[in-house]
Amino acid sequence: MHPKFTTMSKEYKRTLITSALPYANGPIHIGHLAGVYIPADIYARYLRLKGEEVLFIGGSDEHGVPIALKAKNEGVTPQEIVDRYHYIIKKSFEDFGISFDIYSRTSSEIHYKTASGFFRKLYDKDEFIEKASEQYYDDEARQFLADRYITGTCPHCGNDRAYGDQCEACGTALSPLELLHPKSAISGSIPVLKETKHWYLPLDKHEAWLKQWILEDHKEWKPNVYGQCKSWLDMGLQPRAVSRDLDWGVPVPVEGAEGKVLYVWFDAPIGYISNTIEHSPGDWQKWWKDSETKLVHFIGKDNIVFHCIVFPAMLKADGSYILPDNVPANEFLNLEGDKISTSRNWAVWLHEYMEDFPDKQDVLRYVLTANAPETKDNDFTWKDFQARNNNELVAVLGNFVNRTLVLTQKYFDGKVPTHSEWTDYDRQTLDEFLRIKTEMENHLDHYRFREALKEAMNLARIGNKYLADTEPWKTAKTDIERTATILNVSLQITAGLAIAFEPFLPFTSNKIKQLINRPELKWEQLGSIDVLEAGHPLNRPELLFEKIEEDAIEKQVQKLLDARKANESK
Ligand code: 2FM
Ligand code: ZN
Repeated sequence: MHPKFTTMSKEYKRTLITSALPYANGPIHIGHLAGVYIPADIYARYLRLKGEEVLFIGGSDEHGVPIALKAKNEGVTPQEIVDRYHYIIKKSFEDFGISFDIYSRTSSEIHYKTASGFFRKLYDKDEFIEKASEQYYDDEARQFLADRYITGTCPHCGNDRAYGDQCEACGTALSPLELLHPKSAISGSIPVLKETKHWYLPLDKHEAWLKQWILEDHKEWKPNVYGQCKSWLDMGLQPRAVSRDLDWGVPVPVEGAEGKVLYVWFDAPIGYISNTIEHSPGDWQKWWKDSETKLVHFIGKDNIVFHCIVFPAMLKADGSYILPDNVPANEFLNLEGDKISTSRNWAVWLHEYMEDFPDKQDVLRYVLTANAPETKDNDFTWKDFQARNNNELVAVLGNFVNRTLVLTQKYFDGKVPTHSEWTDYDRQTLDEFLRIKTEMENHLDHYRFREALKEAMNLARIGNKYLADTEPWKTAKTDIERTATILNVSLQITAGLAIAFEPFLPFTSNKIKQLINRPELKWEQLGSIDVLEAGHPLNRPELLFEKIEEDAIEKQVQKLLDARKANESK
């Protein structure tokens, strides 16, 4: 039933798509959407449209020190924090049409069981090393201190609010022992060094096969991904601790490990597996343990090492899992020339966008894809948002579809007219129409979503040019047969647009399908010149997009300036 398909050199039967699990300690913004979730969604929708077997996994990452710390600061439990944000995030994804097959969470019971079992198997197979080391301990709070729980003076720049893992003033990565005048963020007392035992994944032992697998066998990975992996591998890999002294997380399932949990970066990627099990308890293994499954991880660039090196090493250590075929990580999206920052409130939050621009999800999806940080960091500006809406969505796509439908309504009573002989120019247009599919496939199969979207928009341009050149409103006065042919061609292109845009602008695609009265269209019909048969009744034309005026944009810019001011006075 499912034809085999080829990508690069390997043949696969199905595709498992994962997208980074966002931390449930805040809502999500356009940077998340542009970097990870829109590309993953485009890919999932495209494959489904082609009739392929796909599973698209999402979920919240609910462990880690920042969540535990936020809970402490607010005097609530970590569970309360993640409950609050998990649903906000989930709702934003639904609002923007991110078509997960499941969106679950790592505080679920099934995840605890899965992550715990995963660790235990590696432990039993002797895949970890156990090591004792001295770490800071808070005598008053009676607990070991995670790096983030220790503040002190940066030995490099003198900033007296540096954290145990990093100085945010000078950007240097630190270890807690380097901090001058360390202080516990929990009790404020001076921490003492105390011995503690942890489990380490000996990445050094995995280095040889990782080098072969990435540097030799996956030269096709994106240059930014390949380059980052190469630099990690060239530096040489070190054992990494996979447990922490913390009271929030999956308990280490080993006797004598009380008070220790799995490191969040150990349990989070296992969340992809837990969520698959939750979705398909009966046959989850085919997604993870069958070499005919193509596994693709969509992530941002800060997650590369974990998905290309650490998680594969975990999967390999288990021995029964497949490894990712590709990890098409994106760079970062900036906002109005500045790095997006949650703490400085320099962001466009999705839930706020939905309030300010209801029903305009596709406009944001369009702008974020057209300007996606695929090969380098990119900038989102409200001016560009407005321009792309007005000059591309309204003036090109919306205009073409609307003119075609209105003219058909006017001259043919809203029914698809019969075409007669095509002219050379018609044929030339239809040839170009046909080429769009191949071009788009070539881009989509290689994770070049910006380019693919450009081709979809080119199809609307082809349509507009065709109408402008053939002028059916003029031929209608003298030659109704010719007018019928022109509108037939234009309507076939309109149906093609509904298909071509589906992965990118699902709401708009649905609207076009509703207008042409064809709710079901498949990828293979893209480029077909008889999708809409003569006599097929269409629905009443409606506009797809509307112009965004200056004041709406000024309001958004002002909102950002206000945030900046508020932040500066803080
Ligand atoms: O960087 C992040 O937001 C992490 N929460 C991503 C985790 S991805 C996966 F491992 F779950
Ligand atoms: Zn510093």
